Amino acid sequence: MDRNLALEFVRITEAAAMACARYMGKGDEKAADQAAVDSMRKAFDKINIDGTVVIGEGERDEAPMLFIGEKVGMVTETSPKIDIALDPLEGTTICANGGVGALAVIAVAERGNFLHAPDTYMDKLACGPKCHGLLSLDNTPTQNIKIASKALNKSVEDVVVVILDRPRHKELIDEVRACGARIQLIDDGDVSAGIATCYERNGIDLLFGTGGAPEGVITAAALKCMGGDFFGRLNFRNEEEKKRATKMGVEDLNKIYTRDELAKGDVMFCATGVTGGPLLDGVTPLPGNKCTTHSLVLRSKTGTQRFLRTTHNLNFKSDGFSNE
Ligand code: FBP
Repeated sequence: MDRNLALEFVRITEAAAMACARYMGKGDEKAADQAAVDSMRKAFDKINIDGTVVIGEGERDEAPMLFIGEKVGMVTETSPKIDIALDPLEGTTICANGGVGALAVIAVAERGNFLHAPDTYMDKLACGPKCHGLLSLDNTPTQNIKIASKALNKSVEDVVVVILDRPRHKELIDEVRACGARIQLIDDGDVSAGIATCYERNGIDLLFGTGGAPEGVITAAALKCMGGDFFGRLNFRNEEEKKRATKMGVEDLNKIYTRDELAKGDVMFCATGVTGGPLLDGVTPLPGNKCTTHSLVLRSKTGTQRFLRTTHNLNFKSDGFSNE
């Protein structure tokens, strides 16, 4: 994949972030998500790719735009054929509440290289580069924490684990507390938390627990670019979800997927902050109808991690958000 594509994709996450940030704190999740979807969909039309959405807003019958299987891009004879995993607004509730760390995200790979994850849950384990290759979803949380503590050269009491604050995680939280590690409970946004394990400054070492499967594939792509590690096992709520997974090509419903099985080959990842968080600042309005965005652009081929702070003059954007 042409490296410049990554910088084209960041325009798309910037456009989505700027659109939905206008709904920050307004209590309307649907409107925020819709603004991000509309803007992201429109921005795709300006890029020379033959793209297919493989992780998107849902099935064709439930999502009018950016549905799974939708073709995106301005296709020419030279367009690269790529698969796209996207979440125009990762953390809809965060944005609606004006909370911490909502993102607009896109991951891309060559055709056929992302797991076509159904919209079910996934048991997840994420860590930064120092723990790469050492942990496993077959281990107990206590075993993983002890291994991580050695790899990170920290006492178990200094290891910080991020877990989504959900009733389903009660046993997990009890076990992590019993073994002595620290916990950061988050309301939403496990993509951002997974990525944060790769930056020591964030003070997050591990992500444990169950969250969205599509978000798991996106996180795996990001961690691949940063040398971190990720494991995921689909976690079905009912028979219907199992049937859907089988229809989407999942053969072993209990399989633990490695990072590189979820995101094969070369991948790229772009995220733009919608609301500010430890990873990225949010969209910041400036006087004169301008704003700044803060984005992360990653490539697995080179391991380049690029943070981009961009000032946008919205007077020059026909729809208020997208670059011409
Ligand atoms: P949305 O952006 O779709 O609202 O997802 C937010 C999120 O917190 C994800 O980061 C996480 O994987 C998932 O929801 C957890 O699902 P649930 O809220 O059902 O526990």
